[in-house]
Order: sequence, then structure tokens, then C-alpha cells
Amino acid sequence: MRVLVTGVTGQVGGALGARLRDEATIIAADRAALDLAAPHAIPAALDRMAPDIIINPAAYTAVDEAEDERELAMRVNGKAPGAIARWAAARAVPFIHFSTDYVFDGSGTKPWREDDPARPLSTYGASKLAGENEIRAAGGCFLVIRTSWVYAAQGDNFLRTIMRLAQERKELRVVADQVGAPTSAPLIADAVANILSAGVENLRRRFAQAGGLVHLAARGETSRHGFAGAIVDGLRLRGLPLAVERITPIGAADYPARAARPRNSRLDLGRLENLFGITPPPWQEALVAELDKIAHR
Ligand SMILES: NC(=O)c1ccc[n+]([C@@H]2O[C@H](COP(=O)([O-])OP(=O)(O)OC[C@H]3O[C@@H](n4cnc5c(N)ncnc54)[C@H](OP(=O)(O)O)[C@@H]3O)[C@@H](O)[C@H]2O)c1
Repeated sequence: MRVLVTGVTGQVGGALGARLRDEATIIAADRAALDLAAPHAIPAALDRMAPDIIINPAAYTAVDEAEDERELAMRVNGKAPGAIARWAAARAVPFIHFSTDYVFDGSGTKPWREDDPARPLSTYGASKLAGENEIRAAGGCFLVIRTSWVYAAQGDNFLRTIMRLAQERKELRVVADQVGAPTSAPLIADAVANILSAGVENLRRRFAQAGGLVHLAARGETSRHGFAGAIVDGLRLRGLPLAVERITPIGAADYPARAARPRNSRLDLGRLENLFGITPPPWQEALVAELDKIAHR
């Protein structure tokens, strides 16, 4: 089975390549092999690669910068997934794509279900929603996996930022009124491997039953402030020298950013559990695994 994985230099793409390489022939596509900023060139590139399954974690993920680069974000996150989906639908190739909790407006406190109305607050969220819509319009055998607060032991993410700041500063000020589930890239890769292990025919049936959309995150919830506290505690426990003495909770309003983030990023995991039989680990457990990797480097 030839599995095309995009975004292999990113968190999820990297974890997927590592996780699936013993079970499939991975076609690892970086930006040079498949540039999502050039959607018109995608069909010819896919013809050459001839995958049996496509997994697309590549995306324009710079949430704040997207406010100034709307056209590029829309092309990479909206138009390009549409081009991939049409190519895949025409050849009955299963297509797995990733989207985000940022398609929601973050109101309320209930976990978002897949069929709740999407009302993005930011250009990034709107571009990811545009991608979902393009894929749905293409039809075929597809699954859009919405996930949240992705991090890994390596890469550019909240964990690495908190680690760096905790080494440099005595006080960290971290937003306490945004709640969600930090989700490690390896957790996502494990779930995708589990989904693929059902075999292609089961996969078609389950994707259809899911209406092509499922939420995937670690179990449980915390605030950004709670996540930062767990990171610092975990690093200290592993003997890393840290300068930080206080982690002060602040409101999102005290930390102005170009793009608004949802206050409530909780994702309901019922469909994942009921249709795919996957119960993800609690976020604290997945964090331990990533902190251990950092400590053992
Ligand atoms: N990060 C989060 O907190 C989060 C939360 C919810 C959902 N998601 C979604 O989950 C998926 C994976 O996210 P991630 O955190 O793994 O992203 P990431 O670490 O930021 O990696 C993004 C990847 O996309 C590639 N890419 C960017 N522009 C491209 C282009 N024009 N053509 C080809 N490749 C391009 C990057 O390549 P280069 O290295 O060349 O730039 C990189 O490999 C994305 O769909 C994202 O929207 C992420």
C-alpha cells in the first residue's frame, strides 16, 4: 500500500511518517514535492506519485500571519485540499485531511460536536473551513479529522515555547481563559494508524458512516495556563534547569494577538469512540511521553 503523506517536515506529518513506515510504503511529500501554494500543479504531481491513500497534514498554520496573508492561507488550506480531494475522488483513492477546533467560535462550555455550526473567528479558521467545504463538495472517500492544540517534543509549538521561556524568565504570563485538549502529534499518528488498520474496504464504510468528519483530541481538558504548568512541572521533575518561579494566569484580552482564538476548544470525541473504536489517552499521559523524549535527548 502506497501512502502519500504531505507536510513531512511538520509535527503531524513527521509523526505519521515515523508511525506508518513499518506498515506501508510511505511517499513522503515535502513542499518541494507537492507545493500546496500551487493547486493547479497538484493533479500532475499526484499522477506521478500514484498513491493508494493520501494523508494531508500540510497546511498554512501561522494563525496570526494568516490575517495578513489571507489569499495564501486560502489557497494552501482551502483550494489545495480541494484539488487533492477531486483527484482522489475521481480515482476512488481514500483521502484523510486535517482540520481544527479554530473552525468554531469558542462560545459556551460544551464540547463541540462534528455537526455543530462552524463559525471561525480568524482567517486561519476560515481557510481551514474552506478546505473542509471543498473536500465535501468533491465527494469520494474522505475523512476530515479536526484536532486541537497540537504539540510534539520537536517543532515549533506551545510546549517548545513554554520550555524556552521557562529557561529564560522568572515569570511566565499565560492565558487561562482558553480551554481545550493539548494533543500530541504521536497521539494523532497512532489514531490514524488505528483507523488505517481496519483495511481499505472498512475504511470506506466508516468514512461514509462518519459523514467524512471526525473529532480527534486527547481526552480531558485544561487551559493554556494549566498546560504550561504541567509542562514546567514535568520538565522540573526530569531535572531540566529552569529559571521560572511563577506562572501567572492572564485573560486572552491581556495578551493581544492578531487573530482571535476560541475560548472553548473542547472537542466531543463520541463519534471517534463509537464509529472508529478509538479512545485516546488523557492529555497528561501523552504529555509524559513527549517530555520523556525531551529529557532523554
Ligand atoms: N498546530 C496546531 O495546534 C493544530 C491544531 C489543530 C489542527 N491543526 C491542523 O493539523 C494539521 C497538522 O498541523 P501541524 O501542527 O503538524 O503543522 P506544522 O507543524 O505547522 O506543519 C505544517 C506543514 O505544512 C507544510 N506546508 C506549509 N505550507 C506548505 C505548502 N505551500 N506546500 C506544502 N507544504 C506546506 C510545512 O512545510 P515547511 O516545513 O516547508 O514549511 C509543514 O511540513 C494541519 O492541517 C493543521 O491545520 C494544527
